[in-house]
Amino acid sequence: MNVPFLNPGAQTAPLRPALLAAMTEVLDRGHFILGPNVTALENEIAAFVGARHGIGVNSGSDALTLALKALELGPGDEIITTPFTYIAPAESIHQVGAKIVFADIDPRRFTLDPADVARRITPRTRAILPVHLFGQAAPLEALLPLAERHGLKLVEDCAQSIGATWQGRSTGSVGHIGCFSFYPTKNLGADGDGGMCVTQDEALAKRLRMLRVHGIEKRYHHDLHGFNSRLDELQAAILRVKLPHLSAWNARRGEIAAQYTAGLADLPVQLPAAATGNTHIWHVFALLTDQRDALQAHLTAHGVPTLIYYPVPLHLQKCYADQGWRAGDYPVAEDVSRRILPLPMYPELTEEQVAHVIQVIRGFFTQ
Ligand SMILES: Cc1ncc(COP(=O)(O)O)c(C=O)c1O
Repeated sequence: MNVPFLNPGAQTAPLRPALLAAMTEVLDRGHFILGPNVTALENEIAAFVGARHGIGVNSGSDALTLALKALELGPGDEIITTPFTYIAPAESIHQVGAKIVFADIDPRRFTLDPADVARRITPRTRAILPVHLFGQAAPLEALLPLAERHGLKLVEDCAQSIGATWQGRSTGSVGHIGCFSFYPTKNLGADGDGGMCVTQDEALAKRLRMLRVHGIEKRYHHDLHGFNSRLDELQAAILRVKLPHLSAWNARRGEIAAQYTAGLADLPVQLPAAATGNTHIWHVFALLTDQRDALQAHLTAHGVPTLIYYPVPLHLQKCYADQGWRAGDYPVAEDVSRRILPLPMYPELTEEQVAHVIQVIRGFFTQ
């Protein structure tokens, strides 16, 4: 049996008639950028996450950069984020000219360790940028009071956490700005690039709306240094077809996570779990094992290819060689990078495929 690691096309098949109808409507209307579907999607996503405003942008990466710009962060400012994630949050800090300050991660949740964040706050720190990694909230119960105590902005990277909650509140609705990605393999994926900022703050929403179109409020009058980061109508129309299914898809991921957990519980691996107060949307189900590379090879040999998220923590990436970070600076992130193994996780996985993955892993440990 073959189990693809990711399979975004599988989600499209049952929605094909609705997707084609939505796309045809856009083609017939002839309004392709920032039209009625973008406005409707902004309202629908804002309502879904419990925020007052949604601002559609080009990608999750742009959502982060525009968020930092909207908060007027830049040269001379330090922003604390995680070294164990996709590179976009660190890139956004670099893009606005601020200084990236990494703090180490918690070995169970893989998200920012608040104690290490606290240690790295200086008089120049202006913001904390936690990533709600793999589908569950970073420890906002500690990060939020820390940010408040030091007068820091809190920007939530929700690229992997749409629909996840922390103490009953959706990720993205808690900090100053929440940033979402609609990259095709995300829990809510477009058929191309897309992203969104959400905020409770009207003034920030206005700035974000201006920043995404060259800093304009009125056409050809540029009040801010802006960007071209518009969300297009076709992607918005596609996302509006998919959004009503998101909760059911997230629930199905939860079932698969429960099956993996039950099937692997007695093995010598560390399994992921939702922290108290969190609901998890299982964007990624990743275990930790000292035999990661051998287990990965065994899975591949049995029809289960996998991808490592993330094999090199950000402080050790070549593009940051000039920043002076060294191996050993963030020991937990480095250890997790060596031992982590994500398993196939998407709602369309069949019972047989999940059972096969479990059986292959059990075979590895009992051979
Ligand atoms: C944690 C995280 N932040 C930001 C992004 C950037 O999103 P995008 O690919 O839409 O630019 C991604 C993924 O792609 C991500 O996983």
